Amino acid sequence: MDFFTTTSKASRRAADCIIVGVYDRGKLSAGAADMDAASKGALTGLFKSGDLPPAVGKARVLNSLDGVRAKRVVVAGLGKASQFGAKQYRAAVAAAMQALAGSKVQTIANYLSLEDINGLDAYYKARHAVQAIGDSQYTFQQMKSGRKTPGMPLKKLGNAIAARGEAQRASRGAEHAIAIVAGMALTKDLGNLPPNVCTPSYLARTAQKMARQHKRLTAKILNEPEMKRLGMHSLLSVTAGTVEPAKMIILQYKGAGSDKPIVLVGKGVTFDSGGISLKPGPAMDEMKYDMGGAAGVLGTMETVARLQLPVNLNVVVPAVENMPSGTATRPADIVKSMSGQTIEILNTDAEGRLILCDALTYSKRFKPAAIVDVATLTGACVIALGHHHTGVMGNSDDLENEIVGAGVDAEDRGWRLPLTDEYTKQLKSNFADFANVGGRDGGAITAGCFLKNFTDGMTWAHLDIAGTAWVSGAQKGSTGRPVPMLSEFILSRCGQLP
Ligand code: BES
Ligand code: MN
Ligand code: ZN
Repeated sequence: MDFFTTTSKASRRAADCIIVGVYDRGKLSAGAADMDAASKGALTGLFKSGDLPPAVGKARVLNSLDGVRAKRVVVAGLGKASQFGAKQYRAAVAAAMQALAGSKVQTIANYLSLEDINGLDAYYKARHAVQAIGDSQYTFQQMKSGRKTPGMPLKKLGNAIAARGEAQRASRGAEHAIAIVAGMALTKDLGNLPPNVCTPSYLARTAQKMARQHKRLTAKILNEPEMKRLGMHSLLSVTAGTVEPAKMIILQYKGAGSDKPIVLVGKGVTFDSGGISLKPGPAMDEMKYDMGGAAGVLGTMETVARLQLPVNLNVVVPAVENMPSGTATRPADIVKSMSGQTIEILNTDAEGRLILCDALTYSKRFKPAAIVDVATLTGACVIALGHHHTGVMGNSDDLENEIVGAGVDAEDRGWRLPLTDEYTKQLKSNFADFANVGGRDGGAITAGCFLKNFTDGMTWAHLDIAGTAWVSGAQKGSTGRPVPMLSEFILSRCGQLP
């Protein structure tokens, strides 16, 4: 998709579609006001008759407006002008795209970028718009037989800018957005694929394919005998009940010489039945999303490799399936992790931490500048934060705050939870160094405390994406989170943001 910037008046700009907006009480966006003048008050008239709803999330398509060159105009609701921020801006663009669904639109010019969006500069105005438009085009149809619904034949996408001097920054924002959309699409595809297709081996093949497609990217896959030799008995205990072979996937992207790498570790449980501590039936299908952490870090790698960023980034994915069987791990089993610490497995459904701990220990060899693990780790995190914020924990205030800040700028938010000593005590075991569960209270935090035991000497953060990686219900599907948050974090770390 090509990106362009334009300084033309909205009414004079040729395009299949132009996006403008209306605030509450009928205040028109700059582009809409220009079209209103050119059409002798058509938009004002439509607002008065109630045909242009001003609420964020609403949008109307107007065809062949008098005095306007573009074929179509979408008027998106913008809400209160005083509250128009990045979030409303993205929702307005997304609503405009929804209103256009099914139309054969090849060129879109977004004129909402002329608005005052709580101090956003040209970079972020383009980033957010292109991301919202790109993301709106995602569909998952690969498992359907028969004819697929064709998408919009979008070829060119542009932002109005106030002055030529903004063009370069806007193009940068668009370029980053297109790579983030591609990363999110990979994350969504991996999440949405069924667990009989997206197995640990499938994730490994995906990583190998990425390494073939991108410069500076190499893949290494460890199989079970290799993991056994390394002493990853905690990870291997989770795969004991399944016939699917476990894989440890390591992707290394080298874009910054000998700099210490950022390491992203993603939980790759391709199906979590709970094991012998079997989960209840309702919604168990959603446990195909239990590789959302893996999908998120692979998607972030896709973004970074597409942009060929000046950074060293390693992605580590412990990939397993958690199933019950006669060979499965039992509650009460004790295993020795790669770190040497022993774990009493009191609940085989707390398996994510059992694979992540060995992946964290393995990652020490990379001497990370920062290590971030990403996991659909606990139902308790969903109880604590719902579906809006990712849980952010760790052993470094600076790193956690940096990640929360990146989430704000990327509109992919996280919220910190405390990993203080009191919680660690809940993991006490009478028989091993600690147990793998700490009771119901503060479950997201005790899971974080468990992981903390494996991060000595590293600057570490943990993202619990159990509430944010996918949505349930009629719109069931992967969200592509936290690719925007992690991409922002990395773009910022390697000095690519304005
Ligand atoms: N993958 C689940 C966490 C999960 C559950 C994410 C529901 C999203 C929705 C994880 O492996 C798990 O089962 N965690 C247990 C931990 C408990 C046994 C301490 C949980 O959250 O119930
Ligand atoms: Mn589980
Ligand atoms: Zn799980």
